[in-house]
Amino acid sequence: MSAADMPHPDENVVWHRHAIDKEFRAEQKKQRPALLWFTGLSGSGKSTVAGALESALSGLGYHTYLLDGDNVRHGLCRDLGFSDQDRRENIRRVGEVAKLMNDAGLIVLSAFISPFREERQLVRDLLPEGEFFEVFVDTPLDVCESRDPKGLYKKARAGEIKAFTGISSAYEAPEAPEVHLHTAEGSVDAMVGQCLDALKKAGVIA
Ligand code: ADX
Repeated sequence: MSAADMPHPDENVVWHRHAIDKEFRAEQKKQRPALLWFTGLSGSGKSTVAGALESALSGLGYHTYLLDGDNVRHGLCRDLGFSDQDRRENIRRVGEVAKLMNDAGLIVLSAFISPFREERQLVRDLLPEGEFFEVFVDTPLDVCESRDPKGLYKKARAGEIKAFTGISSAYEAPEAPEVHLHTAEGSVDAMVGQCLDALKKAGVIA
């Protein structure tokens, strides 16, 4: 069911259909909108691969937007911490924003740990079939910990950060991601290639 057809809890809030719609905006950009949802541990390489993929798509002439966890937590989600409840709210908000951007006709990329299956499924359900691509950035904890680009694993091990994903907070790996990346084994270019192939196969890009 699209948001337009979904009843609002307050019957006095009614959906307004505007003349310029998703189809028009996508056609104007000569592309098919999609959402590539990168999920994985902190330090797994989500932002790196998503950024490289965005550059590749932009180079091919596509219109994109990258939502990045650390950046979004500076603004829209700056009131949220890392309890399970706050992470759920973080993903709910980002899912809704990604949906709006998809409605704007963009190819949206997002890079959030998004540790819980249920929230990732909720975001998937926000979009039409075939427009959501779960990209599992599958990097073992020990590799992320040895990279430790921000020194956060060290702090988490020392007990200075509570509820740190993979150490003191859960990460539920995707069971059937559209794209499965093993960053410990391949180059960034190869992983960008894997994502582009998935988009081609689905008919999102030519
Ligand atoms: S999510 O779990 O809600 O999806 P999000 O992707 O927005 O997380 O933010 C994760 C980033 O916040 C990490 O890459 C890391 O830089 C930082 N961070 C700070 N505290 C934590 C924590 N307790 N657990 C995980 N990441 C944390």
